[in-house]
Amino acid sequence: MNYTSIKNIDNLSQWVQDALEIKRNPLKNKKLGKNKTLGMLFFNPSLRTRLSTQKAALNLGMNVMAMNFTSEGWTLEFEDGVIMNQAASEHIKEAAEVISQYCDIIAIRAFAGLIDKEKDNAETVMAGFLKHATVPIVNMEGATGHPLQSLADAITMEEHKTTHRPKVVLSWAPHPRALPQAVANSFVEMMQLQNADFVITHPEGYELNPEITKDSKIEYDQDKAFENADFIYAKNWSNYNEYGQITNADSNWTITADKMNLTNNAKFMHCLPVRRNMIVTDEVIDSENSIVIEQANNRTYSAQLVLKKILENGK
Ligand code: CP
Repeated sequence: MNYTSIKNIDNLSQWVQDALEIKRNPLKNKKLGKNKTLGMLFFNPSLRTRLSTQKAALNLGMNVMAMNFTSEGWTLEFEDGVIMNQAASEHIKEAAEVISQYCDIIAIRAFAGLIDKEKDNAETVMAGFLKHATVPIVNMEGATGHPLQSLADAITMEEHKTTHRPKVVLSWAPHPRALPQAVANSFVEMMQLQNADFVITHPEGYELNPEITKDSKIEYDQDKAFENADFIYAKNWSNYNEYGQITNADSNWTITADKMNLTNNAKFMHCLPVRRNMIVTDEVIDSENSIVIEQANNRTYSAQLVLKKILENGK
């Protein structure tokens, strides 16, 4: 079993309940991972994903090895049949097979480069490991998705929802650097499995990949989208059409207290790290309606559920 996409979740509501059970008793399966090793490979920085996934593995009794590939590993070649006379020192074929000798599960973080849309959509790094590793793969944020984050988001919303069918708004917000679409993509895919009134709001031209958003509701008027919302999930992404570009930095899209006042006393969510007073004002993120720290805490139980399922699956 691999966990590389929200599509790997067969029953989201059951997974959320299972994760909440783990949260109530995180050390119940302390023997499940005995003598098993999780290898965590980072091609990009991380705070939450690294520590929460490591903690999840430790809660299951696993050993953990982490490697920062960009500063510690050989530069990898992912194309087949090339003459390796450029920067890459090692081919993914050997690297993935060798790491599989040392690890029972391999978790990978490899962001979008935001230069070549086709290459990013092909998930070159993740796909290379999926093809050549001989052990299960976990996505710790790839080029197009961050399914551990979205599972944690689902857990957090389940804990905080006050109605059977909440209104959930994914709102674009400005950011000084070009960011990938991965978190937003997986959030959309996760919300498509929920019983919710789900709305995406962003400036015109900032549409996500239509193959992901499908028929999800899009509202270009942020104020209108916020009306009666129960959850506001803020996230920046760079332009998908003018790929990887920042074509809008309008500070009117920053999440402010005035905007939150349009909602049904909504909870504020963000995956973190967050740029204060760019994405969201101090007043909102420091308010009692902000549940960003609980979201981050739930990253442990999201990862622990995934690792537990893989360990129980046996391959
Ligand atoms: N939300 C998230 O993935 O955080 P990190 O980038 O710090 O891991």
